[in-house]
This record gives sequence, structure tokens and C-alpha cells, in this order.
Amino acid sequence: AGKLADVVLGKDTLEGYVAGHPYFGATTGRVAGRISGAQFTLEGKTYPLEANNGPNCLHSGLKGYDKLVWAAETINDHGVDKLRLSITDPDGRNGFPGTVECTVTYALLDDNTLEIAYTASTDKTTPFNLTNHSYFNLKGSGKGDILGHEMQIFADSVATIDADATLQGRRDPVVAGFNDYREPVVLGSRELNINNADIHFFVDNGRTKLPKPAAAVHEPKSGRTIAGRTTEPGVQFYAGLFLSADGPEIGKGGVTYPAKGGFCLETQDYADSVNFPEMGGAILKPDEPFCSTTLYRFSAK
Ligand code: BGC
Repeated sequence: AGKLADVVLGKDTLEGYVAGHPYFGATTGRVAGRISGAQFTLEGKTYPLEANNGPNCLHSGLKGYDKLVWAAETINDHGVDKLRLSITDPDGRNGFPGTVECTVTYALLDDNTLEIAYTASTDKTTPFNLTNHSYFNLKGSGKGDILGHEMQIFADSVATIDADATLQGRRDPVVAGFNDYREPVVLGSRELNINNADIHFFVDNGRTKLPKPAAAVHEPKSGRTIAGRTTEPGVQFYAGLFLSADGPEIGKGGVTYPAKGGFCLETQDYADSVNFPEMGGAILKPDEPFCSTTLYRFSAK
């Protein structure tokens, strides 16, 4: 019906972002997600990290990539204007080895696709897992919760966690009626908890050169849809379970975002690959530059 809405959660002002928020629109790194026990051993050396989420290090501690000021420039790539952000993340920052050079490039393509392309390189082997942590609500930012959205995730297995959300180095098949989203699931038709709505899904076909479908979301009242594609082997589906858990999270327009007021589709590798190498490849090596692409295509039906 030609009705547009702002479908991402966020703040009205820069000051609002600086005052703190749960990763609205953020690039999360150097390691998005949880490193179990907030430490790892690499090439014989043990590296302690900040435990900021129970026993785990979440999103690299309290001063991850979301807290850095990135250098911004516009580039023209084959006729398409793009925004390129870059940082240098020095050796030892947040306890990680190696200086990492990282870029994130955003483009809005002709078919209403938001393209997010990442590159990174390092001078020492380091755990590395990047994602975009945007929260979406296809009803519109501040228009209540996401219940009623139809969620589809193209994955037949999930990363097993314990009650603290600590990764267990295990992968288990999705369970019908619980965390199986291979056919669209109406959010709210089953209880949403950390085992089905804050969990890493291993996307079918693993890491790929070209982006493949990871998730598709449809909100029937507005007709809006997002199709998510990625070269990454997984996606953390987070249904905003803890929004406003520690006090009202005031968003755009002065509206308080409720719990489940937005969902994230955080395309990524298995965050704790450094402790469980058989589970994923979230490791950056000097001779193997990283590149990765995630696409969110918006449409209506
Ligand atoms: C995590 C959630 C966490 C959220 C905001 C997600 O990536 O999986 O547990 O609450 O980020 O920090």
C-alpha cells in the first residue's frame, strides 16, 4: 500500500547512542557472541578476556567494536555509492592478540537490498567473528513487540548451550515445534527463550563464496518482509528477549521498547571456535584475509 516505516530500532540522537544501548545497529567484534569461560588458549598461550556475561565474554567485552569511532568515507564501487567504515584494532586491545585492520561497507542496492560487506586482516592469529546487531521490527520501530512476525531460518541444527548461555562445543538437530524454523513460525505461537530465540543456527550449506538464504521474515499486517542472505555459516537469531530488562530502553520517538520489541539476525560463524575448533572457523590468520557479505532485502507481499 506504499506505507513506509522505519523498521530498525535505535536512538533519536548521537547522545542517545553514546549513553549506551544494547548494540542497536552496531557492528559487533572483534568476536561477536560468546567465548566460553572468558578465555582461550592459542599457540600455547592463554589469553584472559573480560567476563561481562556470566562466566563468558560477550561481544568482546564492554568496549568492543560497537564502542569505537570508525573512519567513514564514501566510495563508488562499479557505479554504486557505498559507505565504507574502517578501524585499526591494536594488538592486545580487549586481551586479543594481533593488530586487526577491518572495514565494513554498506550499500543500498536497486532492489531494496541493504548490502553489508566486511574485510579484515591481522598480523597474528586471533579469534575473529563479525556481525551486524541491528534490531528489526517490521511493524515499525516502537510499534510494540514482534509477536505475529513469521520467522523462517534455513538451518537444521543449533549450537547447544547451558543455562548460562555458555556454548558447549556441540551441535544438535533442531527440534520440531521448538527451535525448528525451517517452515515459517509465527512468533508468539510458542514460548520464546534462550534455546529457541537467542541461539546460534548453523545455516544450511555452511560458509559459501556467494550469499545463500539464511532467514526470511514476514509481518502479515504490514505485508513487509526481510530476506536475509549471507556467506557466513551461521546466524544468531535473537528475539530481543532482554530489551528493557534492566530498566526502560527508550528508543526513537521517546518510545520504550518492550521485551521482544525487535529481532536480530546476526549472521556469523561459531563464536567460540577458538575453544571448539571443530565447530567453526571464527579465527583470523595472517595469511588468510577475511571477507564476508550479508544482504537484507526488503519487500512487501
Ligand atoms: C546475544 C544476547 C544478548 C544480545 C545483546 C545477542 O547477540 O545473543 O544474549 O542479550 O546480544 O547483548
